[in-house]
Amino acid sequence: MSVRAYRGPLLHFTAAPTSAGEGVEYFADGVLVVDDGRVRQVGPAAAVLAALPADCEVRHHPDHLIMPGFIDTHVHFPQIDVIASYGEQLLDWLNHYTFPAEQRFAEAQYAAAAAERFLDELLRNGTTTALTFCTVHPASVEAFFSASTRRGTRMLAGKVLMDRNAPDGLTDTAAGGIADSERLIEKWHNNGRQSYALTPRFAPTSTPAQLQKTGALLARHSDVYMQTHLSENSAEVQWVETLFPERTSYLDVYDHYGLLSERSVFAHGIHLRDRELRRLAETGASIAFCPTSNLFLGSGLLDLQRLQDFGVTFSLATDVGAGTSFSQLQTLNEAYKVAQLKGYPLHPYEAFYRLTLGNARSLHLDHCIGNFEAGKEADFVVLDPNATPLLAYRSRQCESPWEKLFLLMTLGDDRVVAETYVNGARVYERRQYR
Ligand code: GUN
Ligand code: ZN
Repeated sequence: MSVRAYRGPLLHFTAAPTSAGEGVEYFADGVLVVDDGRVRQVGPAAAVLAALPADCEVRHHPDHLIMPGFIDTHVHFPQIDVIASYGEQLLDWLNHYTFPAEQRFAEAQYAAAAAERFLDELLRNGTTTALTFCTVHPASVEAFFSASTRRGTRMLAGKVLMDRNAPDGLTDTAAGGIADSERLIEKWHNNGRQSYALTPRFAPTSTPAQLQKTGALLARHSDVYMQTHLSENSAEVQWVETLFPERTSYLDVYDHYGLLSERSVFAHGIHLRDRELRRLAETGASIAFCPTSNLFLGSGLLDLQRLQDFGVTFSLATDVGAGTSFSQLQTLNEAYKVAQLKGYPLHPYEAFYRLTLGNARSLHLDHCIGNFEAGKEADFVVLDPNATPLLAYRSRQCESPWEKLFLLMTLGDDRVVAETYVNGARVYERRQYR
């Protein structure tokens, strides 16, 4: 692929930002130079353009905003089939909507079509990397990673492990689930841009034997990820206490089986005790904050300040299909409101840092994605701050970049995403954008 340059307002983060703007790199007229799928350079247009060869193609987006692609740290690809299903809290929602829908993924063709639909939806929302649950069926993982490989996206995923408390069509066995996971790791982990995550659904749907084997497999693969759910809903927490009376807490179940490490991502973590937060911080395991899901299922309000006080890393995620939007902009919109109710000021710089470099760091992928440092993979979005009449009107009233970012995260959604690039190739272009 030849060298190509993208010119326009450009913003990325070089570090966790302060509200004074340290860690933010913004060019009102910037250029991103992409060479063979990687970032070669970023800087002010005047300087960068002068040094480019005369025949270098420059795509000019003077009215847009170029940013790194968004990262979603917790989502379920099969649940595109259940998003916006009415009226239940977690455990009923799983039984009435999610488990029936996930059974369809036994059929490879169904899974393949769903994987395409899901990746299309991510890319049209500007999400270029996601850590996703598949279903219990190995074919669902094959479908997902195959579709991701064809598109060149950097994705993380795993087969759900679930050997009890679920319908027959959705359960594996302790030994069978681990054998399948091991085969999938061999085939897909570090295969191009794909990474594998061991995926016990949550403590109630795995026997102690399955959790024990999952921990043992994880110990044999130090760079494989682990994803699961934790302390999302009060009835779920009580259920875990009755299923594992010998453990001191919900987190202690996972801890006991060796599932806590820096590569462990626990979705939700709303109802944790101090001792659990201390243990998360000690082990470097992170919480994926899923505000649209937490509000939709009535699960509760995550206290971000408390996580910060305990030194627990958190990332931002959609959790579709309990989450109600694929848009990480809409996720920020709801995150801001949850944070307001908890007295945590979620500044737009912090918000967009988390969608990009922050989420990359939480997944230990910041050596290759998350910002426009030279050499990183060129995953980026071209955003349209004037995508709707209201946005255009309000944008004209804003002076500073952070005010404009706040408009995007409050009023924006998929309509704002004009183009999405992965590895320097355009994979999505919104029709009829200005
Ligand atoms: N807990 C166990 N499984 C799920 C799931 O699919 N979605 C959510 N939000 N929570 C879960
Ligand atoms: Zn989830």
